[in-house]
Amino acid sequence: MKALYPGSFDPITNGHVDVIKRISKLFGEVIIAVLLNQDKEEYIPVKDRLELIKKSVEGIKNISVESFSGLTVEYAKSRGANIIVRGLRAPSDFEYELEMSQINYFLSSGLDTVFIMTNPKYSFIRSSRVKEVVSLGGDVRELVPNPVYKYLQGMALRK
Ligand code: PNS
Repeated sequence: MKALYPGSFDPITNGHVDVIKRISKLFGEVIIAVLLNQDKEEYIPVKDRLELIKKSVEGIKNISVESFSGLTVEYAKSRGANIIVRGLRAPSDFEYELEMSQINYFLSSGLDTVFIMTNPKYSFIRSSRVKEVVSLGGDVRELVPNPVYKYLQGMALRK
């Protein structure tokens, strides 16, 4: 089975990497698909996000890292993916994810989404919190992969 793991990954966190490690064992192939979202202000340019993801998942087999725009289900179809994967950190994620999986199922006439429960070690980590902590001068070393940590440090120095 070929799985599509879509998201903003702005930036990729240790929680994402944990999900990627686990799904790489469950599926024959995993495409990490980074959304090019014109409506959402980006923190890290997509080109750099792709590089950071590639560095963060180095050594994990069956993974490719790509960007896409438009509907996730259309991209999944174009890449021959037969399942979408999303991580669930907490019950508060559920409502949004349920709705998204249902619209995706409807739009694609039957593409299923499977959910991976985040390792409790990482369940409080979300990209928006990482950005907030960084912008206020806090330490995110334990929250993100090392290449992302270094990149964020570089960003802080350039400001
Ligand atoms: O990591 P995120 O920001 O929670 O990821 C959300 C993402 C990219 C998976 C979602 O916004 C998405 O699939 N966007 C593409 C447009 C789309 O297909 N929307 C759902 C049907 S309207």
